[in-house]
Amino acid sequence: MGQNTPHFTLETLPPKREKVETLKILRQTNKSAAALAELKGIAKTIPNQSMLINAIVLQEAKGSSEIENIITTQDELYRALTVNKASLSSATKEVVNYRKAIFHGFDILKKQGFLRVNDIIGIQQKLIDNDAGIRSTPGTVLKNDKTGEIVYTPPQDKAEIIDLLSNFITHFNDNSELSPLINLAILHYQFESIHPFYDGNGRTGRIINILYLILNELIEIPILYLSSYIIEHKADYYRLLNKTNTTGEWEEWILFMLKAVEVTSLQTIDKINSIRNLLNKTIEKVQNSVPKIYKKELVELLFEQPYSKIEFVVNQLQVERKAASRYLKELEKIGILKAQKVGRETLYINTELIEILKK
Ligand SMILES: Nc1ncnc2c1ncn2[C@@H]1O[C@H](COP(=O)(O)OP(=O)(O)OP(=O)(O)O)[C@@H](O)[C@H]1O
Ligand SMILES: [Mg+2]
Repeated sequence: MGQNTPHFTLETLPPKREKVETLKILRQTNKSAAALAELKGIAKTIPNQSMLINAIVLQEAKGSSEIENIITTQDELYRALTVNKASLSSATKEVVNYRKAIFHGFDILKKQGFLRVNDIIGIQQKLIDNDAGIRSTPGTVLKNDKTGEIVYTPPQDKAEIIDLLSNFITHFNDNSELSPLINLAILHYQFESIHPFYDGNGRTGRIINILYLILNELIEIPILYLSSYIIEHKADYYRLLNKTNTTGEWEEWILFMLKAVEVTSLQTIDKINSIRNLLNKTIEKVQNSVPKIYKKELVELLFEQPYSKIEFVVNQLQVERKAASRYLKELEKIGILKAQKVGRETLYINTELIEILKK
């Protein structure tokens, strides 16, 4: 490859079982699987699943993009989704694209029941919003953020990248041998090490993670994300990817990913419980304070669209603009929503929900 950089040949999957099924790994797999199973059950108790997906996916889009230092504010992000605005900041645009990419992948998986290499390319395309596709020009290396030192050189040759991706996807779709949670860790390492794109490999890899959990029915809807854990433990995350690169040792890396599944499952359970409590509290308050306007669909809308507006109410409840406007004002009066003017539009914000989602 003509470059004086550390390069090693990436091995194809699967790795030797004894390397990835150590006692420590198996023990942690049980704990992580239990937490995830609990999350799967609790998610089902939320009556409106699309509400839950929307709320959590957007937050993940924001969090995952932050790993790449793409920072948008909560407010700008929701406003971008609520108001037709020509000029979005580039950070907000990227987060909005990330959300599109997750839903795109989820739809494909639901329809097909498996993924193809081309689907991964499609997901990355949605994310990055260009059609560069798989790397075809050499030169991509991974550097240490601070020192600039090259820490890893992924395969440079397009044919090699494609071979590795097809090995990856075979293993993704058929994994009868290993526990899916162990496989999740292996697959994520492998994908990041193939590093098939010029950019967006981390984010595409994190979307693939959730799709893998769904494929294996460990969760039904895209609501478990490891990004917050990865952000919090970013140094370890990079260090362990690297360690596996250089030593071929899997254990610490797999334990890291399993722990991420356990911790984020428990956090998401808390979040869903808080959402459910707030939903019930809101229903009760509307029923008691303004019973005339109470409709289940109205309250659900405030959770599906935490930044709401008249038009949304009109569409959801099939009422006149005047009535919709009155509902939102009444809800503001009793303290459920906060109004915010954006240009000529007034947005009504479910601030308590936003607080829960932000945590
Ligand atoms: N030593 C390494 N071996 C394999 N993969 C690595 C290594 N160091 C970092 N990576 C992966 O590279 C990703 C970054 O690649 P890239 O910039 O293409 O993705 P991104 O989505 O734009 O960035 P980010 O993941 O920071 O949001 C990291 O998220 C990580 O998963
Ligand atoms: Mg990048």
